[in-house]
Amino acid sequence: MNTKRFVDSLLVLLIMGRTVMTINWSVVNNLVIFGRDVILRCHVGNIDCNVSGTAHDTRTWTGGQHYKLLCTTEGSTDPKYKMMTRNTSHDFDLSIGNFSESDLDYEYTCQCGHEVNTTKLSVEQNKLISFPTEINTDSSYIASGDQLHIAVSLEKVNPVPICTTLFKDKVIAEANVTKLKSYRYFTDVNVSFTFPLQEFGCSGSLQIVCSLLSYNVTVFNENIQSCPEYDSPFHLHIPLVTACSVFLLAIFCIVYIIKRRHTCRNQHFDILQQQHEEG
Ligand SMILES: *[C@@H]1O[C@H](CO)[C@@H](O)[C@H](O)[C@H]1NC(C)=O
Ligand SMILES: *[C@@H]1O[C@H](CO)[C@@H](O)[C@H](O)[C@H]1NC(C)=O
Ligand SMILES: *[C@@H]1O[C@H](CO)[C@@H](O)[C@H](O)[C@H]1NC(C)=O
Ligand SMILES: *[C@@H]1O[C@H](CO)[C@@H](O)[C@H](O)[C@H]1NC(C)=O
Ligand SMILES: *[C@@H]1O[C@H](CO)[C@@H](O)[C@H](O)[C@H]1NC(C)=O
Ligand SMILES: *[C@@H]1O[C@H](CO)[C@@H](O)[C@H](O)[C@H]1NC(C)=O
Ligand SMILES: *[C@@H]1O[C@H](CO)[C@@H](O)[C@H](O)[C@H]1NC(C)=O
Repeated sequence: MNTKRFVDSLLVLLIMGRTVMTINWSVVNNLVIFGRDVILRCHVGNIDCNVSGTAHDTRTWTGGQHYKLLCTTEGSTDPKYKMMTRNTSHDFDLSIGNFSESDLDYEYTCQCGHEVNTTKLSVEQNKLISFPTEINTDSSYIASGDQLHIAVSLEKVNPVPICTTLFKDKVIAEANVTKLKSYRYFTDVNVSFTFPLQEFGCSGSLQIVCSLLSYNVTVFNENIQSCPEYDSPFHLHIPLVTACSVFLLAIFCIVYIIKRRHTCRNQHFDILQQQHEEG
């Protein structure tokens, strides 16, 4: 009876010890960015992965889309995967290069000696950045009257960006962002802005900068030259009216001078006549 209880408690202790000792892995990057490297770290704690007596270190990573051996301490056959070990800790990392959505949602296993842990790789959407794969600015601005209509489409972006418009390097307003199409990890969006030329000016640098968490991406950058030429009635009349005024004034002056000369000569003649009569 006593022996059975002893064996039971020993078993419980063993199981608990094993649970505490169990290894696990986690994503090291605070922000996961598509196209960059992502690092998974196997937390080994105090476990010696080099099982006593074996010449080969038993640290390995397995997983991914085809669930295959990715790398060992000896290296990897696929340059996408790299084993990263340290001499200060038994923990070891897997570096996944050019990370993409096809690396997500698959199981990854880290092994150290007899210890194994398999977990699905998932990343919260708010910790994931996807820079737009395509920024379409073709025929992106149309001038109509005293406004410029700008529309830029961004493909496969995450999160849905917040975009601001800058004119001559000064923030003027937020741009409109509308979702066009949603995917599992990213969205196609349309960034649009109506720029009133009369309010801010008609020439200078105009930019739209979109923020993706802690990153900024310039999606539109043009030096606009949209000042109206002399085509508006207002602009056309000023020189015309001026020219007419000058012309009329000139005629008025000439007429006045001629008239004045004429009167003078007449007066002179009168005086001469008077003198003649007197003499
Ligand atoms: C693997 O590690 C996770 C914690 O990251 C844990 O929840 C899970 O139970 C472990 N799996 C095994 C089989 O030990
Ligand atoms: C992962 O393993 C380490 C080392 O064994 C341990 O300290 C940590 O609590 C474990 N984390 C989880 C979530 O199980
Ligand atoms: C593992 O341990 C053995 C025996 O101590 C040693 O010869 C070998 O170099 C170690 N391997 C590694 C990768 O540390
Ligand atoms: C770890 O390795 C580096 C280079 O290989 C060496 O300079 C360093 O002293 C080592 N640290 C320990 C604690 O062994
Ligand atoms: C983007 O938005 C602008 C302005 O709202 C609109 O004119 C344009 O058609 C939109 N483009 C697409 C592809 O939906
Ligand atoms: C954003 O869209 C709304 C509604 O379509 C429109 O009223 C507003 O003028 C737009 N803002 C800019 C800056 O284009
Ligand atoms: C991103 O742009 C915003 C607004 O223009 C600015 O306040 C912020 O400092 C920029 N951040 C980075 C990392 O450049």
